Amino acid sequence: MVRFLTRKIADNLYLLRLDDDQIRYFEGLWEVPEGITYNAYLLVHHDKYVLIDTWKHAYASEFIEVLKGVVDVRDIDYVVVQHMEPDHSGALPKLLEENGFKAEVLGHPIVKGMIESFYHISPKFRAVADGSEIPVGSEPLKFFYTPWVHWPDNIMTYAPSLGVLFSSDAFGNYSIPSTVFDDGGLSTTYVHYARKYLATVVGHYREHVLKAINKLGEAGIEIKVIAPAHGLVWRSNPKEIIEYYLKWARAEGVKGKVVAIYASMYGFVEKAMREVTEELSERGFKVVTYAFTDSQHSLLSEVIGDALDAQALVIGVSTYEAGAFPLIEYLAELLARKTASEKSVLIVTSYGWGGAAGKKLADVLTSAGFRVADVIEFRGYPTKDDVVKLREAASKLARELSLISD
Ligand SMILES: Cc1cc2nc3c(=O)[nH]c(=O)nc-3n(C[C@H](O)[C@H](O)[C@H](O)COP(=O)(O)O)c2cc1C
Ligand SMILES: [Fe+2]
Ligand SMILES: [Fe+2]
Repeated sequence: MVRFLTRKIADNLYLLRLDDDQIRYFEGLWEVPEGITYNAYLLVHHDKYVLIDTWKHAYASEFIEVLKGVVDVRDIDYVVVQHMEPDHSGALPKLLEENGFKAEVLGHPIVKGMIESFYHISPKFRAVADGSEIPVGSEPLKFFYTPWVHWPDNIMTYAPSLGVLFSSDAFGNYSIPSTVFDDGGLSTTYVHYARKYLATVVGHYREHVLKAINKLGEAGIEIKVIAPAHGLVWRSNPKEIIEYYLKWARAEGVKGKVVAIYASMYGFVEKAMREVTEELSERGFKVVTYAFTDSQHSLLSEVIGDALDAQALVIGVSTYEAGAFPLIEYLAELLARKTASEKSVLIVTSYGWGGAAGKKLADVLTSAGFRVADVIEFRGYPTKDDVVKLREAASKLARELSLISD
């Protein structure tokens, strides 16, 4: 059952949060057994009511009900559309209808056409300029363009009187947090879900995350609270999540962390991967393994999230119909799109009569900037000699990674 909550999170500021535990694939793609929240905010600014974002379309009626608990919907003066992805704009048409289309919609210039084409409505619309301030009541709201974090339309909104930055998708996390705030500091659970969210949703546009953070820094605003569109509201130490975002946007490797990913139809590649990961573990590396076999499939979303801050990857794949095993080919494509970096990758590959998977994978990953450390190819089940080669490749990788300073 989805749950919704309203919480006053500052003077004149309400969080309207929908806890979506029914979703299985965010954007129809990413497995999220942990669920996700959609966070909208209502600001009561000297008799002016400003709504920042909404919820997903499926929960539009619930959104109106929740809003009604705080405000007469007809009284809403402004709706800031920070991002048109329908997880945030889906309830906009219903909201405007209930509001009698009285409210002025504020957003990036591209939003006007998107509203018209997504929802076939034409509300009053005012484009905000980058860095501009718009008086709302007696106090201004400040807007920053943060394109490609996640779409071209993304903006962030800053309320100077509260020191609150409404950050849209940036600094969001998957899961349904048990609290509204990050009080007590950043737990490893939420770090995990924030990294997974960034990697899967914004991973392709990571350089723009750096630009956005840089822009906020140059603006010299004091950020006391970060209020994102998903997950926790960061107030105990907002700098901390910004620091994490910087590291993840650069795909910085955590020293000693290796992510091993493999598919194995009948256990041949699996045996080879065991040798490699054992060697790395013996040399002090923390290896996180994701497998695709006849008894288990890892979650692609978890693989992508974990790979982002690995120091290196080991990928095991067999040849399948003169190409790479399809799931790993797909995963390599996702890794190239979302986690492209200069990380080292060791490829472990097996074939029955003519190997093709190793080269295929190496090509995809090299094109994305990865450094293919080695491709260890063998026929069928690895022989004693193959095992020696695999262990040697692993220890060579371990030596190279150990030489990289922090
Ligand atoms: C459905 C299927 C398709 C395969 N296609 C090829 C192929 O095109 N070329 C090849 O050399 N081997 C092919 N093989 C053989 C496997 O690549 C080889 O047996 C490998 O060692 C399997 O490792 P795994 O059991 O760890 O997946 C195929 C095997 C299967 C089951
Ligand atoms: Fe988005
Ligand atoms: Fe979103």
